[in-house]
Amino acid sequence: MWTRTVTTFRMTGRAKTASGGETPENEMAFFESILVTGGAGFIGSNFVRHIAGTHPDCRITVLDALTYAGNMENIADLVDNGRIRFIKGNICDAETARDAMVGAEAVFNFAAETHVDRSIEEAGSFIQTDVYGTYTLLTLARERGVRRFVQISTDEVYGSTEGEGFTETSPLKPGNPYSASKCGGDLMCQAFANTYQVPVVVTRSSNNYGPYQHVEKFIPLFVTNAMEGRDLPLYGDGMHQRDWLHVEDNCRGIETVAVAGEVGAVYNIAAGHSQPNLRVAELIVEHIGETSSKIVFIEDRKGHDRMYKLDAARARTLGWEPRVSFEDGMKKTIEWYQKNRAWWERVKSGAFREYYQKHYGERLEKGRPKGHPGKS
Ligand code: NAD
Ligand code: TYD
Repeated sequence: MWTRTVTTFRMTGRAKTASGGETPENEMAFFESILVTGGAGFIGSNFVRHIAGTHPDCRITVLDALTYAGNMENIADLVDNGRIRFIKGNICDAETARDAMVGAEAVFNFAAETHVDRSIEEAGSFIQTDVYGTYTLLTLARERGVRRFVQISTDEVYGSTEGEGFTETSPLKPGNPYSASKCGGDLMCQAFANTYQVPVVVTRSSNNYGPYQHVEKFIPLFVTNAMEGRDLPLYGDGMHQRDWLHVEDNCRGIETVAVAGEVGAVYNIAAGHSQPNLRVAELIVEHIGETSSKIVFIEDRKGHDRMYKLDAARARTLGWEPRVSFEDGMKKTIEWYQKNRAWWERVKSGAFREYYQKHYGERLEKGRPKGHPGKS
């Protein structure tokens, strides 16, 4: 059972222990044993690395179905050296998930179908994993009496904003099948907290970027396309905005909320680095330097949310704050993709080539190079 010192947090980002002494944030008391679902994906693998590095005594089990988005290379070193235990399995499969949860004090649910474009093509797998899978884990967490269930939700549940930053009490208005499915999982967590007192906390972060992100997503796609001399397919007028958060800042935020967050509460996590996509694309081209790639405006995504923006004041009251500036984060991220070409070349080969051709082929042919936004 969970016997560690309970901590409270101050605005400085240092944890205050129950006995009154101070602990630096990276030494704060944590759980002895955790289950991380979706730990072979982008944020999950970064979180596993973060916890493995900052809490050497914490036992970590990863449960991941290894869908097209899961990649054992993201955590292979930690599995090979015995630092973490890996179980291949689906969160919708109660038997496997039950086995994986044995001994876990806390569950961190990162597992999800995550790509908006794919959800527009086919939503069934999103509903299955993001809603039913979350329900399955909640049922098991209740059965096992876990100390914490941390649901990794998203800012996309609020839908598009006209400019104001959403708070945790803003209405939910998902604009696409991905965000609607995430809403289902998010609300199911709150229902389990209210009905069965499952000790849930929910994080809703803004768009993440950083190492190990699948190349289907905007920043890695543009960075690797620019490195390959391929064109950069910008949707619509390129003026849609995302509130970019470096994945390390999110991982620290999730850790803080898990330990210090109020049970049953929701926490937005964001850095306030809102940028139009066109600006991010230009910045990528500037950083990469010599490239024959052009930014090409292509047919817009259906139902494309115009702007995401969060108010993360509640998470800051726990002592968390972002540390990575957008400029430094982007520089580090681009360097990571430059140093890890073999990693993304493997991800971009095989089934991804087919997806890319089907999704972008014709649109790129019909698109207009930068300088002619808008009309088609
Ligand atoms: P990802 O697509 O990179 O990884 C998802 C992982 O989940 C993969 O390893 C995949 O194999 C696994 N998975 C999928 N279905 C599964 C199932 N049924 N059972 C077990 N494992 C399964 O996603 P990500 O970008 O790392 O996102 C992680 C979480 O964070 C998701 O819940 C997502 O909604 C949320 N989130 C992401 C962002 C972002 O910008 N990437 C922002 C806010 C919230
Ligand atoms: P994405 O990484 O898919 O994240 P999300 O849609 O969940 O926010 O896309 C980020 C932004 O980049 C979004 O406004 C859509 C845009 N985008 C493009 O313009 N071109 C692309 O090829 C992709 C994948 C995204």
